[in-house]
Amino acid sequence: MIKTILLSVCIFLLLSCGKPSVDDRPIRPIEVLNFDTLFAQRCSGCHGNEGAGSASIALHDSAFMHIAGKSTIRDLIVNGRKNTLMPSFQSNTGNPLSDAQIDALVIGMSENWGGEIPPWAEGRRYEIQKGDAGRGRGAFADLCASCHGPDGTGAVAGSVVNASYLRLVSEQYLRSVILFGRPELGMPNFACKTDDKTIDDIVAWLLTHKENWSNAND
Ligand code: HEC
Ligand code: HEC
Repeated sequence: MIKTILLSVCIFLLLSCGKPSVDDRPIRPIEVLNFDTLFAQRCSGCHGNEGAGSASIALHDSAFMHIAGKSTIRDLIVNGRKNTLMPSFQSNTGNPLSDAQIDALVIGMSENWGGEIPPWAEGRRYEIQKGDAGRGRGAFADLCASCHGPDGTGAVAGSVVNASYLRLVSEQYLRSVILFGRPELGMPNFACKTDDKTIDDIVAWLLTHKENWSNAND
């Protein structure tokens, strides 16, 4: 009799507690639609917690959200940026995002970080255009030399003319760093201090250092 009671208690416990409910089922990465979770899982490793910047540029920036715009950001998530560490999240990659997840990210970034647009950000251009390296050299001396040294090899801030660095980043990234700064590292934004053309010129001058590459296998 006691055995039978014990057995029924065990069966009851197994049936009632052992079975996970629908809510306990782990959410697969491709099903996550919450913006904070998506950004933390897929982007913050490189762009910092809540987009505050880390190995790569901060995205928690109303000027960035406004000037780059939603379609550029969407395109970057889908395609990544060729020859850089910014990955593509298309379905055929190792870290796919569904269309709904990409929308959740783009809308979430814009709603959470779009905020008020600083006056200097109105009417500015995001995309890099071909600049004049000669003019860029002069502008670098005026705007950048105080921290990066007159030849860009570094002073209170590091070198920005190292060939291996310049090969790691895209022209657009250099333009973005000058436009928006990396305030979390002490690199100011220059969009409020200079015009779009001058920024392209400075990037053109920086890129003249890209060829000083000493790897014989390259
Ligand atoms: C007030 C000082 C200051 C000025 C002025 C300044 N920078 Fe910087 N910059 C920094 C600091 C600090 C960093 C962070 C890394 C380091 O210490 O080198 C940085 C980083 C950078 C980086 C690397 C960013 C990255 O994420 O890879 C670039 C490129 C750069 N600066 C370009 C420029 C250019 C071009 C100008 C002029 C338009 C300029 N900087 C003016 C302080 C400055
Ligand atoms: C493995 C690191 C890594 C991950 C993960 C990553 N990024 Fe990036 N991202 C980068 C790098 C590096 C760049 C700059 C590439 C270059 O040189 O142009 C970049 C550039 C960008 C830019 C453009 C910045 C500019 O140059 O103006 C956006 C927007 C962006 N990433 C959004 C995202 C979003 C959204 C996610 C998550 C879905 C994400 N990234 C995940 C590394 C990463």
